Amino acid sequence: MTGIREPKRVFIKTYGCQMNVYDSDRMADSLAVEGYQQTDRVEDADLVLLNTCHIREKAAEKVYSELGRVRLLKEEAARAGRRVVVGVAGCVAQAEGSEIARRAPVVDLVVGPQSYQHLPALLRDVERGGRPVETEFAIAEKFERLPAAAAARTRSRGVTAFLTIQEGCDKFCTFCVVPYTRGAEVSRPVSRIVEEAQRLAEAGVREVTLLGQNVNAWHGLGDDGSEWGLGRLLFRLAEIPGLDRLRYTTSHPRDMDDALIAAHRDLPALMPYLHLPVQSGSDRILAAMNRRHRADDYFRLVDRIRDIRPDIALSSDFIVGFPGETDADFEATMHLVERVGYCAAYSFKYSARPGTPAAGLTDFVADPIASERLSGLQALILDQQTAFNRSKVGTSMDVLFERAGRQPGQIMGRSPYLQAVQLDGDASWIGKIGRVSIASLGSNSLFGERIEALARHRPSVSLEVTT
Ligand code: 5AD
Ligand code: SF4
Repeated sequence: MTGIREPKRVFIKTYGCQMNVYDSDRMADSLAVEGYQQTDRVEDADLVLLNTCHIREKAAEKVYSELGRVRLLKEEAARAGRRVVVGVAGCVAQAEGSEIARRAPVVDLVVGPQSYQHLPALLRDVERGGRPVETEFAIAEKFERLPAAAAARTRSRGVTAFLTIQEGCDKFCTFCVVPYTRGAEVSRPVSRIVEEAQRLAEAGVREVTLLGQNVNAWHGLGDDGSEWGLGRLLFRLAEIPGLDRLRYTTSHPRDMDDALIAAHRDLPALMPYLHLPVQSGSDRILAAMNRRHRADDYFRLVDRIRDIRPDIALSSDFIVGFPGETDADFEATMHLVERVGYCAAYSFKYSARPGTPAAGLTDFVADPIASERLSGLQALILDQQTAFNRSKVGTSMDVLFERAGRQPGQIMGRSPYLQAVQLDGDASWIGKIGRVSIASLGSNSLFGERIEALARHRPSVSLEVTT
């Protein structure tokens, strides 16, 4: 009983952050070389991969219940004489390791995020009857070995793409598993990043989002022999013909250096949107979280960024109910949100992650209190988000057209501020940038009308003007 069908098919389910999305693509790349075609129908798959996330609670439990469903599929396929191989990848794989194989007999292989370059070899091991568990930390090797395969897929990419430039984290916020699941900070070399960005541009990608758990801690030796930071790298990438838009995520406030801030003023290709997680507005909680800055440092940073790029849209992450958080601490968070004004933000109830320093704290916040705080914060953020979107009605903006819209004859694009924009338009616009006058605000997008000829490459104006 073997999987002799050709081509073999792989179904990848991705949980969690954009880096997992990027990694899933990379796994698909390396499997394409092995003759696997990607499918979005799990019941057609010869190989099912769950690319898991461990950042918040119940992640592992979700994986086990998904594995329960996969087991039924695997059994059904076996009855039809077909073998389905099941793999668990991602941060739960890293954190749980062989425990997964022990608890879920359906699993044939476990592979951590730093070992995806070994996937073809692990599959061969499975074919020989093995049940490999690979959770070595070899980030540099992962980056070294995966790019070659990436070329296989770039042809089919869309208009926007992710590009991981940095992985891992040395910050050790006390609530966070990332330093344990993704390991120490590693920056990819400039030449590799430029090569990959060039390939993406050649494949029709117009907008690249640089990824890293601490993307603004990226550093590397530039082609001029000096040490570059993210700001300098962005300038280099903007030279690549066709790369009209650049973004980066996720940043730590402590790593926003002057050159990076200046890039937001001087580099038209760098979009005026910055995800800058702060987690809390209370100095006491920030200290307990080991964020290594105070609320006031954050305010000053935001002021500096807004001084040089007044229209920049800011987003953030927040945790409520961190152990020991009082009403006053939470009020400080609400105050921070009011003072900064966000275009969007993600907020979460604290969940203790095994193995992190905060997991040992015992002054829990009762769940109903944490829930109440979360809804208060989310209501405030939603108000700000709506106000931000509404403030763009009546202005005109450059929109990168990404795909067909919801209705026939409609097209969907993104504003510089990452807002979805819907308008009447033609599929031939996809991949181009057009000036759009924003007429109204829907529940999830802006609606507008194109007002100028299409620019294939970077338009000269990137700030919005009021019409
Ligand atoms: N509990 C709740 N939220 C968390 N995050 C990270 N770890 C935890 C945790 N233990 C949130 C942070 C981070 C985002 C990616 O997830 O806000 O910025
Ligand atoms: Fe986690 Fe903090 Fe590192 Fe972000 S900076 S990945 S929250 S440890």
